[in-house]
Amino acid sequence: MKHYLDTAEEAARGAGKLLRQNFRRQQRVNAVAAHDLKLEIDIQAQELITKLLLEEFPEHALYGEEGVAGDQSTEHQWIVDPLDGTVNYFYGIPHFCVSIALRLRNEIMIGVIYDPIREEMWSGQKGEVPKLNGHPVHVSDRADLTEAVISVGLAKTGETINANFPLLQEMIHRVRKCRILGSAALDMAYVACGRFDAYIEQGISLWDIAAGWLLVENAGGTVDLRPRDDMKDKYSIVASNGVIDLKL
Ligand code: IPD
Repeated sequence: MKHYLDTAEEAARGAGKLLRQNFRRQQRVNAVAAHDLKLEIDIQAQELITKLLLEEFPEHALYGEEGVAGDQSTEHQWIVDPLDGTVNYFYGIPHFCVSIALRLRNEIMIGVIYDPIREEMWSGQKGEVPKLNGHPVHVSDRADLTEAVISVGLAKTGETINANFPLLQEMIHRVRKCRILGSAALDMAYVACGRFDAYIEQGISLWDIAAGWLLVENAGGTVDLRPRDDMKDKYSIVASNGVIDLKL
């Protein structure tokens, strides 16, 4: 497992370096939607990660935001978001990350999230307390909802905004602060290390939260992940410190 974790960290650092070097430079935009952008740098970062991981583990497959590689029916599958927080990145907002998980059959075994601006690396493997830059982390112990700081994601389409907005409107009155920071993977990493007490979003993709799922659970929290019947390949997620009652 250590070899997998080391390689995932190396890939995250490599992609993170590419993102950092090109941050606040002119970006090539490949596609534009009302509430989303697709950047060429996303693809370059995923290519870098794919090369490193599949050269090291040629029998593995990769399932990423920018496409798939290898035989998807294989037991070992890397789940990758090469740039989570793409819109932040494009607008020069220094809040984005690289997220890499390894799924074996149906279980996440490795999770790595790297913020290249703050140089924060969360990493974890199944059954072990995850670490932030080498130091063990734990979820918060805040149980009182009125004292909580939580993140509510709005995702990226009119449909998901409509699904998430009522949640935000409800929660904003119950907690101390709601945050919408624009990177689901960092939201999960922040829950894992106790900065946020919870993170909620409807209409999220697996690559956004796969690594964070392992980190939050192994840091003592809980993750309720449910596939959406009404949105293809999308999920609803409630990740929390496990002691707070969100009253959802
Ligand atoms: C998005 C971010 C955002 C979340 C969206 C994601 P991307 O990922 O994580 O915070 O609300 O649901 O799709 O497009 O920046 O990789």
